[in-house]
Amino acid sequence: MSKTVLVSGGAGFIGSHVTVELTQAGYDVVIADNFSNCDETNYKGVCAILGKELPLVRMDFCDKAAVDALFAKYPIDAVIHFAAFKAVGESVDEPLKYYHNNLLSFINILEVAKEKGCNVLFSSSATVYGQTDVLPVTEQSPRQPATSPYGNTKTMCEDILRDSVKAYPGLRGIALRYFNPIGAHPSALIGELPRGVPNNLVPFITQTAIGKRACLSVFGNDYPTPDGTCLRDFIDIVDLAKAHVCAVTRMVEGRMKEEYEIFNVGTGRPVSVLELINSFERVNGVKLNWKFAPRRPGDVVAIWADPTLAEKELGWKAERSVDDTLKSAWAWELHLAGK
Ligand code: WQD
Repeated sequence: MSKTVLVSGGAGFIGSHVTVELTQAGYDVVIADNFSNCDETNYKGVCAILGKELPLVRMDFCDKAAVDALFAKYPIDAVIHFAAFKAVGESVDEPLKYYHNNLLSFINILEVAKEKGCNVLFSSSATVYGQTDVLPVTEQSPRQPATSPYGNTKTMCEDILRDSVKAYPGLRGIALRYFNPIGAHPSALIGELPRGVPNNLVPFITQTAIGKRACLSVFGNDYPTPDGTCLRDFIDIVDLAKAHVCAVTRMVEGRMKEEYEIFNVGTGRPVSVLELINSFERVNGVKLNWKFAPRRPGDVVAIWADPTLAEKELGWKAERSVDDTLKSAWAWELHLAGK
């Protein structure tokens, strides 16, 4: 019998790609989303890619009664939790909004999951590593104090999951630490849809290339890196989604080695901001208007993953090249523009 996976925040950027990969791997997926930070574009795209309507529950995970009702209605074997606020700058201005939403929604899920003996996959972030001199980072690398309330909610939710699986028999958890997810589905039917001015690099690049933004600011050119711009581990969104299928399968098949496990999800290859811009222009044959600007407060100089553990334990590794990923990001922006 096929297993059922609840994807909280399943209408968002990462959640929609994960939903597609899970469904194609044979899982039944229930999407739950409050649409606070997205519209139905990606949900409709998911259904178009899969050729069927998936169950969609409009709800807020801060509403415990709604979470109870959801678990009563569906036979949920595993939960992947994406439903969270994610704007770093906003979290500095409105920390309580972030602590309230990101912690309470996760606690509500764990309260029910512990009763049902359910598996929980938490969507964490490389942000928990902060800046470290020892690169690449492994899962054993020490976490640093978070530089924003958003980042702190990732660290805190990891700890909440770790402590909960220790205390409640039958509850198992995996935290996946994402590096920088970019790109879009090869169909160009789902992708990243930031509201307002994008904070992240690739949506800013594609929106500048299409003419929605006048000019991309490259934050900092005097970092101690080969070309003076920051180094990141840009991971293709479909590759990242596939890591979730591997992790969920490991959980539901009872193959976890410990009740709580952590995996880096990255490529292991550092790419600079300038390299990424140059690759975008080259592979898509478009010219980008960009200029250097002062450093952005809070940015780490360089971070990239050691993804060895995910390959060994999950049988997962990144496959798509940065070039192909940047082509998919551009195809998605063209699709949004109706071109
Ligand atoms: C990448 C690089 C910028 C925009 C953030 C979160 C992290 C994670 C992913 C999200 C940096 C530079 C960016 C621009 C630029 N979680 N840049 N001009 O900061 O590595 O990670 O997103 O939910 O927790 O912190 O990603 O894409 O914002 O920036 O020069 O207009 O691009 O300075 O060096 P970041 P990013």
